[in-house]
Amino acid sequence: MKILAFESSCDETAAAVVEDGRRILSDAIASQVDLHALYGGVVPEIASRKHVEAIAALTEQALAEASCTRRDIDAVAATYAPGLIGAVLVGLSFAKSMAFALGVPLIPVHHIRGHIAANYLAFPDLEPPFLALAISGGNTLIIDVRDYTDMEILGGTRDDAAGECFDKSARVLGLPYPGGKPMDELARQSPGGVYQLPNAHVDGAPLDMSFSGLKTAVVNLAHHAEQVGEPLDRAALARDFTAAVSRALVPRVMEAARQTGRTKIAAAGGVAANSFIRADLEAACAQEGRTLYLPPLRLCGDNGAMIGAQGYYEYLAGHTAGMSLNAYATREIGEPAQ
Ligand code: KG4
Repeated sequence: MKILAFESSCDETAAAVVEDGRRILSDAIASQVDLHALYGGVVPEIASRKHVEAIAALTEQALAEASCTRRDIDAVAATYAPGLIGAVLVGLSFAKSMAFALGVPLIPVHHIRGHIAANYLAFPDLEPPFLALAISGGNTLIIDVRDYTDMEILGGTRDDAAGECFDKSARVLGLPYPGGKPMDELARQSPGGVYQLPNAHVDGAPLDMSFSGLKTAVVNLAHHAEQVGEPLDRAALARDFTAAVSRALVPRVMEAARQTGRTKIAAAGGVAANSFIRADLEAACAQEGRTLYLPPLRLCGDNGAMIGAQGYYEYLAGHTAGMSLNAYATREIGEPAQ
C-alpha cells in the first residue's frame, strides 16, 4: 500500500511516499529554518505562508522521486495535531484536497506518533510493545507503545520541552536557531564539570520532568557573567547543560522500562539527534540489557516519511477521517482524531 504523506506542523514542509509503513520511496523536505533564524525562533505566520508556497511543488517532487503517478497512491496521510495551528492547517487542507480528488482514504496522524514511527522505517524488525522517549522542540514524553495505535503517556515535561530548553539556552550562548545542533557541537569542545545546574524533580510524579528551571539557570549564568564582566566558559556550560538534560531524561526512561518490564526502548524527535543523549542512552541500555533503537539523524527531525509510516498502521486500525477533520494545536497522543 502506497501512502502519500504530509507534515507541516512547524518549520519544515514535507511530503513523502511510503510503502506498507516500512519502506521510504521518497522523502522530500523544504526547510524554512534559515528564514526563522533571522528572528531567533519560528514566526508562525511566516511558517504558514512558506508551507503554502512550498507544498504543491514538494508533492510533485515526492511523487517523481518515488516514480509514482497520482493513480499509484492508495491513501493520503497528514499530521493533524499537535503543532502551530496555521502551519498544521496548510498540510492537512492540502492532504484533504488530494484525498478527495484521488478518491482515496484520508488518514490523520498525530505528530508524536509519527516521530515514534520513524523507528519502523529505520528498524524493519521493530514491533510494539516498546517504550518511546519522544524528545522534540515542542514535546518531551515517555510513552508506553503497547501497540501501533495504542499508547499511554507514562511521564512528560511539566513546562518546557527539552528542545525548547536547548533552543532558548543556545540563544543566550550566542548560538544560531535552532540551537540544539550547535549546542551539541560546542559541548564537544569541553569536558564540562564547571557549572552546577539544577536537577528538578516533580513531587509524586517520578517520571515527570521540568526544564524551565534549567533554562533559567543558564540564562542567569550568562547574564551574570556579562554584568560583572567575567568570562563565560561557553563550551563548559554547553556540556554541563547537555549533561543536565540527559540526566533528566535517561534515568527516567530506564525507570519506566523497569516499571513496565519493557525490554525495548526507542528514541524519537529532533533532540534524539544529540550525541551525548544518544551515548548516555546506549550506556544505560547496555548496562541493563535492554535493546535501544536510535533512528538515524535525518529521521529524528520532522519529515514526511514518519507520517506515512504511522499512517499505514492508523489505516490498518481503521482510523481514517472525513472531510470535516479539523487541525489541533494540542491533542493527547491517545485521543482519537475525530
Ligand atoms: O523533532 P523536531 O525536528 O521538531 C519538532 O517536532 O519539534 O525537533 C526540533 C528540535 C529543536 O529544538 C532542535 O534544537 C532540536 O530538535 N535538536 C537538537 C539536536 N538537533 C536538533 N537538540 C539537541 N541536540 C541536537 N543534536
